[in-house]
Amino acid sequence: MATGYIDLKTLRFEKLSEAHIKPILEIERASNGAPWSERSFRNEIEHRDGAFVVALLSGQVVGFGAAWMVIDEAHITNVAVAPEHRRHGIGRRMMIHLLQASKQRGMTCSTLEVRAGNEAAIRLYEQLGYEVAARRKGYYPDNKEDAVVMWLYGLETWEPPKP
Ligand SMILES: CC(C)(COP(=O)(O)OP(=O)(O)OC[C@H]1O[C@@H](n2cnc3c(N)ncnc32)[C@H](O)[C@@H]1OP(=O)(O)O)[C@@H](O)C(=O)NCCC(=O)NCCS
Repeated sequence: MATGYIDLKTLRFEKLSEAHIKPILEIERASNGAPWSERSFRNEIEHRDGAFVVALLSGQVVGFGAAWMVIDEAHITNVAVAPEHRRHGIGRRMMIHLLQASKQRGMTCSTLEVRAGNEAAIRLYEQLGYEVAARRKGYYPDNKEDAVVMWLYGLETWEPPKP
């Protein structure tokens, strides 16, 4: 939940580096029912076909978003904002940054899987132009929840929604 005053003018995005790993792990463990391991995040630092954006607010890591560039698809692999910094527009700005970076790298579409019950994330993705394309029954091993598969097409001409 959102707490206190947040100055979005101090929001910056950086490429993942070693210094981000510890705070990212904390956010991941607070956000994901099946969290990535420390090694998984470290592997992203030098991932040639990866794009990993870290969001910092007043210099503090508050979120991250990751994608793999697969031929012409930006496959979103992980997205999270620290619980105390949610609902302030950080997730939207971070996803826009990630999609623009993917577009610059020549991707023409983007896809992701999201838990069917994750209304917050599904709404965020819909705002950005993703559409539900399929449902995978019992996809998530931890609780057998269905996955919703979403796609965004036309990334080469995509423009972010107005704030
Ligand atoms: C999904 C997540 C990244 C959104 O980050 P955020 O910074 O809170 O998102 P924003 O404030 O930018 O919200 C953007 C839009 O998302 C939707 N949204 C975000 N949180 C929501 C909520 N709790 N309920 C309903 N809609 C929500 C809204 O449409 C919102 O737009 P609005 O504020 O104009 O209504 C964040 O909730 C999170 O980290 N969740 C846990 C991890 C996760 O689910 N990751 C996605 C895995 S696929």
